[in-house]
Amino acid sequence: MARSRLSLHPLACSVPNLTANGSYADKTAVEAEFGEPYTNFMNFFAISGSTRKLSTNTAMLRALSHIAQPVHSISVFERIGDLPVFSPDLEMDPLPEPVQNFAEMIRQSDGLIISSPEYVRAIPGGLKNAIDWLVSRDEVINKPIALMHASHRGDDMLAQLRMVLTTVSSRFSDELFLRFDLMKKPPADIEAYLAQPENRLAAADFVSRFATYCGD
Ligand SMILES: Cc1cc2nc3c(=O)[nH]c(=O)nc-3n(C[C@H](O)[C@H](O)[C@H](O)COP(=O)(O)O)c2cc1C
Repeated sequence: MARSRLSLHPLACSVPNLTANGSYADKTAVEAEFGEPYTNFMNFFAISGSTRKLSTNTAMLRALSHIAQPVHSISVFERIGDLPVFSPDLEMDPLPEPVQNFAEMIRQSDGLIISSPEYVRAIPGGLKNAIDWLVSRDEVINKPIALMHASHRGDDMLAQLRMVLTTVSSRFSDELFLRFDLMKKPPADIEAYLAQPENRLAAADFVSRFATYCGD
């Protein structure tokens, strides 16, 4: 697991080395800002619980990935719909290819960020199915996990997700949580909303604290 000596600075939005979309232009800009070598980024894997093309949760995770780069990398996974319905009978070599890829991306990540809508007061079936695929494997058991949420509603789903993630990982963080009220906003508006200084700060601080948590 990569160790983070250099987390995203919570005041990153006020520094001069940023591009228009709020990320650092290159590693040199990061080094100029922080005065230390850029060698220690975190590789996060962000799972959206929504398969909607215009999903607010997916758009929020994408905006977060833009804010984090290149100090940290966040790969946004929006393909839970490609995973077959879990059955213990399918847990044999070779695993279905989408499951192999999904598990491998989790294995290679330093931490997971999950953001999901609520469906019928519960975890959407696609996300629960994805988690079920991981239960008897070793990728997720010690993986740091934090939640985001793109709505002011959905607390029943969040409670269930917290219970499930506490069960599958010894390193689910209940404390690290970031929520924006983005319901019904289109992706471009969400990108713009997260680019606003106070929201960028909140997002940068969340990434920074999660990087520290992953490095502990
Ligand atoms: C089938 C379905 C069931 C839903 N059930 C709930 C619900 O129980 N509670 C709630 O607050 N919102 C519910 N919603 C609304 C979604 O949670 C909400 O629109 C969410 O922001 C969608 O996230 P997305 O934009 O990432 O797809 C439901 C939506 C759908 C499509």
